Amino acid sequence: MRIRAACLDVLRLSVLAITSAFIVACQSPVERGKYLVAITGCNDCHTTKKIGPNGPEPDMSKLLAGYPEDFKLPAPPNLQPAAPWGIVTTPTLTAWSGPWGVSFAANLTPDQNTGLGIWTEEMFVNAMRKGKHMGISRPILPPMPWQDIAAMSDADLKAIFAYLRTIPPIVNHVPDPIPPTGSE
Ligand code: HEC
Repeated sequence: MRIRAACLDVLRLSVLAITSAFIVACQSPVERGKYLVAITGCNDCHTTKKIGPNGPEPDMSKLLAGYPEDFKLPAPPNLQPAAPWGIVTTPTLTAWSGPWGVSFAANLTPDQNTGLGIWTEEMFVNAMRKGKHMGISRPILPPMPWQDIAAMSDADLKAIFAYLRTIPPIVNHVPDPIPPTGSE
């Protein structure tokens, strides 16, 4: 009896494994990319927030459009590198100030002039793997977690890019980063 119960458990597990492998295999790259973007937190920083009943929540009408261009910020507080509080952000989590200066979450929508419209898949994969702006130029600044995203498989990175091509393009010009005070 005990052996039979163990066999049933193995059978159940095998069916589960086959089913989840089947679901992954049958997902299109766009569906897979949508799923990955949802679970890996891209919206946390790249989708601005509006105030809902429980505080800030993603503003899905501006899905992945980055730091809102019409949001005018004063200069950030003068943080001391050695102080226990070293990094500040806006309630929208789209602008960040720290030892690297001020960084603004990029517009990931396919808009041609202000988003990833002119990017190729290769540029996106290189940017995420090497931490270089557009895959080749200046270092991508914190808190963009490219070091974690770099660990994704090629297929997953390409799936994210495929999904980003399908979201509504939003015209939103995100400012360039501001270097740390004293380094200009
Ligand atoms: C903790 C906040 C945060 C999270 C989470 C995050 N990003 Fe970013 N991301 C940023 C910031 C800030 C920048 C701008 C960095 C800069 O200007 O150097 C950025 C920049 C980018 C860029 C532009 C890079 C370039 O070459 O200029 C891409 C593409 C990008 N993020 C994709 C993603 C994707 C895809 C995810 C989810 C898998 C993600 N980000 C998650 C904060 C974040």
